[in-house]
Amino acid sequence: MNQIPPTMKALVLQDNPEARIELKTNYPTPTLKAGQALIKLKTAALNHRDQWCREGMYPGLRYPSILGSDGCGTVVAVADEADQHWVGKDVLMNPNVNWGDNPAFQSLNYSILGMPTDGTFAEYLALPAHRLHEKPAYLSDEAAAAIPLAALTAYRAVFTKGLAANGSKVLVTGIGGGVAQFAFQLAQAAGAKVYVTSGSDEKLDQMRQAGAAGAVNYKDPQWVKTLIKAEPMGFHTIIDSAGGDAFGELAKMLAQGGTMVVYGTTAGKPSGIHLPRLFFSQASITGSTMGNDQEFVDMLAFMAKHQIQPLVSSVRPLDDIVSAFDEMDQGRQFGKLVIRISE
Ligand SMILES: NC(=O)c1ccc[n+]([C@@H]2O[C@H](COP(=O)([O-])OP(=O)(O)OC[C@H]3O[C@@H](n4cnc5c(N)ncnc54)[C@H](OP(=O)(O)O)[C@@H]3O)[C@@H](O)[C@H]2O)c1
Repeated sequence: MNQIPPTMKALVLQDNPEARIELKTNYPTPTLKAGQALIKLKTAALNHRDQWCREGMYPGLRYPSILGSDGCGTVVAVADEADQHWVGKDVLMNPNVNWGDNPAFQSLNYSILGMPTDGTFAEYLALPAHRLHEKPAYLSDEAAAAIPLAALTAYRAVFTKGLAANGSKVLVTGIGGGVAQFAFQLAQAAGAKVYVTSGSDEKLDQMRQAGAAGAVNYKDPQWVKTLIKAEPMGFHTIIDSAGGDAFGELAKMLAQGGTMVVYGTTAGKPSGIHLPRLFFSQASITGSTMGNDQEFVDMLAFMAKHQIQPLVSSVRPLDDIVSAFDEMDQGRQFGKLVIRISE
């Protein structure tokens, strides 16, 4: 404990319209409470919720809070003797706080690491030791930090809710997104035939190289026709986090008995849905959020079994973290925006 400094660098969400996020250089280092472990963070990664918090568009904002749901680091201290075996280990963290007992949905006092509880965009993080998982040996620090929130969300959306399996025809929209990218990788590893959309031709080219069965630009006026021509019987699983004007068209692309899984609204309010089409085809639209703790374990095992490497868009130092938020706001990233905090 002696080498742990009393203050640290931390990216803090604050109630200041001039600077809603600010990198503080002398923020108090957390002290351990019973059951907690102290992690010296090596890397962290952004999720869109961090930018939503910056924009004031996330429920239950708490000021000040350290943002960041994903990270990888080394355990440097624990409060309880029973957790001593963690000290010195490289870990990543399950970002669920209080999922609760029901695997089907989270408890009423559920939250996500990184607002309201202090998160990973800091040099140190204290959290309950039961949130820790050993860093997968096959991954770098950067790749490990890219995984938790996005891959967990994708795992539940693709498998538990979307029921994708070997041979399924799957469509993932907005493939530049962190969760979307994992949804593609997980479904592909399970043996599904995976199509993607993006607003960027460059990202689509890369996805063709990564084995996408089809890659279509949602800004092309012909995008719906192109996908229908490619899969006239529709998609068994559609994974969407955009909503917006395309939503009704996507719903029409569901196969008989197919499922559209929705976990975000990046493009705003959804357009209308052709309900007769939906009910005649016995199709479903279902919501999904994060994943339970068992799904987190299953996700890590699935990733390791298939040696899935997260797509890291860029890595930059903690001092430059605000530029990563700007990049996410503009949707310029392709995969995860990773922050290097310490070596
Ligand atoms: N419910 C949950 O548990 C949960 C968990 C994680 C995220 N989310 C939500 O899901 C969304 C994505 O999160 P993320 O962290 O993956 O975000 P992200 O990395 O910022 O990705 C957002 C992506 O959305 C795509 N996009 C933008 N406009 C689009 C449109 N009109 N149609 C289709 N795609 C469009 C873009 O893809 P292209 O660049 O390829 O066009 C962009 O890269 C956010 O709204 C986030 O809040 C929810």
